[in-house]
Amino acid sequence: MISSKRYQLISILAEQGDNYISGQMLSERLQISRTAIWKHMNELKKDGYQFESAPKKGYRLIKKPDNLNESTIKWGLKTNWLGKQIEFQESMTSTQDIAHDLARKGAAHGTVITTNNQLRGRGRMDRTWHSDNDGGIWMSLILRPDIPPHQASQITLFVAVTLVESLERHTGLDIQIKWPNDLFINGKKISGILTEMQAELESIQYLIIGFGINVNQSMEQLPSEINKRSTSLRMESDNNWDKLTLIQQLLHDFEKAYELYFETGFEPIKQKWLKHAYKLHELVHVKTFQEEYDAEIKGIYDDGALIVTKRNGDDERIYSADITW
Ligand code: BTN
Repeated sequence: MISSKRYQLISILAEQGDNYISGQMLSERLQISRTAIWKHMNELKKDGYQFESAPKKGYRLIKKPDNLNESTIKWGLKTNWLGKQIEFQESMTSTQDIAHDLARKGAAHGTVITTNNQLRGRGRMDRTWHSDNDGGIWMSLILRPDIPPHQASQITLFVAVTLVESLERHTGLDIQIKWPNDLFINGKKISGILTEMQAELESIQYLIIGFGINVNQSMEQLPSEINKRSTSLRMESDNNWDKLTLIQQLLHDFEKAYELYFETGFEPIKQKWLKHAYKLHELVHVKTFQEEYDAEIKGIYDDGALIVTKRNGDDERIYSADITW
């Protein structure tokens, strides 16, 4: 992870905007020597930052890199606790696995793990999540909510609602949620969420919220076995999206929404989920471990279960199933 002095140095220089700040002033504010500041600047240059120095005036920041890494995500990130610790590597097996590892070692609530491509991305129900390309956002968050384990399913629905609202706000696209938490645009999957938990009987040790969002992939870059059912923001909008900005907006919106959920409870989330629900009040095909039948989607319960009405008029509560149409 980036040294906190280096991060403070970027923040101080960024605060100054176009103004210069003297080496002496930086050294006092950071409590490190001027040589140490110079070394940090050299490291930052390797990441693509550019500085200008002027005699008697000092330094100013003139360019930040637009590639994804820990310092570029942090720079300009307007959150209080989410993303204060960021683990970024160009390539990872799965952000989910790295997140579990860090959480076991005590990583803080709000730690963010992200990468440009995953070698062994995982989806729900042990499926492969194709993410060996830098066209998407592949990210896991470590959360340590003070809630009983059975409430974790609400968090999963909350995440789906939050991603939809944030992506809609920033891209202008119209996004739906297919139960339990797949994001769809025009009938095709754009994003999936995987929630994993380490818990005792009564309390959660940590939650790992993993989400993948197809951002800039073309049809050819999506694997052929899924490209009929999947899409990307670019394919739906003809726009190449800046992943860095999207990530910062998502983290900012997520933090705000998370705090609101703990103030106002699940009801507002449920209403928003219903507003975006894909195929609500329509006939779908339900396949559970025990049976298969056609039914109409009616809504969700507070525990995240899907309510469907069978053809004979009976309501069913579904916790796990494949829903098709
Ligand atoms: C699904 O729809 O089945 C869930 C997909 C979740 C994918 C994300 S990408 C980031 C994180 N790391 C993983 O290996 N999986 C999740």
